[in-house]
Amino acid sequence: MNVRLEELIELIKSLRPLFLDRTGAGEVREKGLADFVTAVDFRVQETLRQILEEKYPEAQLLGEEKDNQEIDFERPVWILDPVDGTTNLIHDFQHSTLSLALFDQGELRLGIVYQPYTGEVFSAEKGKGAFLNGRRLKVSEERAMERSLISVGTSPYRHELAEENFRIFQELFLACSDIRRLGSAALELAYVAAGRTEAFFERGLHCWDYAAGLLLVQEAGGRVTDWLGEPVDIRTTRDILASNGPIGEKVLEFF
Ligand code: IPD
Repeated sequence: MNVRLEELIELIKSLRPLFLDRTGAGEVREKGLADFVTAVDFRVQETLRQILEEKYPEAQLLGEEKDNQEIDFERPVWILDPVDGTTNLIHDFQHSTLSLALFDQGELRLGIVYQPYTGEVFSAEKGKGAFLNGRRLKVSEERAMERSLISVGTSPYRHELAEENFRIFQELFLACSDIRRLGSAALELAYVAAGRTEAFFERGLHCWDYAAGLLLVQEAGGRVTDWLGEPVDIRTTRDILASNGPIGEKVLEFF
């Protein structure tokens, strides 16, 4: 499927007013334990669905806020999280993103992570590199754990994982420079691609949380695996570890 990345980026940026609507962010429903959805999530998804359907009728949409039973990965699939970091959105924490990837012919072809508060657009095309607002991205060259900044995901909807997660966070905290928690997995992956952090990891991420970010990290020269160090099949919910490579090898030993 032929997609013009620049055109797609402009389309996504045009959704900024919808994304930043504070009234919509206040219309909240609880989907599950600590798991919320707002009117903004639905409006952004529905608006983008209509635009994509009109421009690319051959592609299906897999979205966080819809039933995705009918998705056929043999055909092109958009993978969308309309608001990654919904809890941040509700609190006006200003670290939420729109994450969009295209899966076509068995692989990820493109990924975009848009941060509407800062105007940052992280984008990647398979084999063509990763960019931030047009500037090429490269992962960090840091190899020393004690100088690394590591971003962690708390798996907020899986409280049964808290004890193990926080054991890992503590051990890593004592070994690295410091840890961070941004609250949007897509943004945390984009930060690894941009070399702002050396690694990010979180258990049980859905493909809409990590698909675009995974391509960003790979195209910026980094590595994304599951927690066993194995390649990730993006059609599945997975424990994710993204890194610049060398620091990821070291983080694996903490799991
Ligand atoms: C969540 C965010 C959060 C991460 C969760 C995700 P959502 O996405 O990425 O940072 O910890 O695991 O589910 O639910 O806000 O789209």
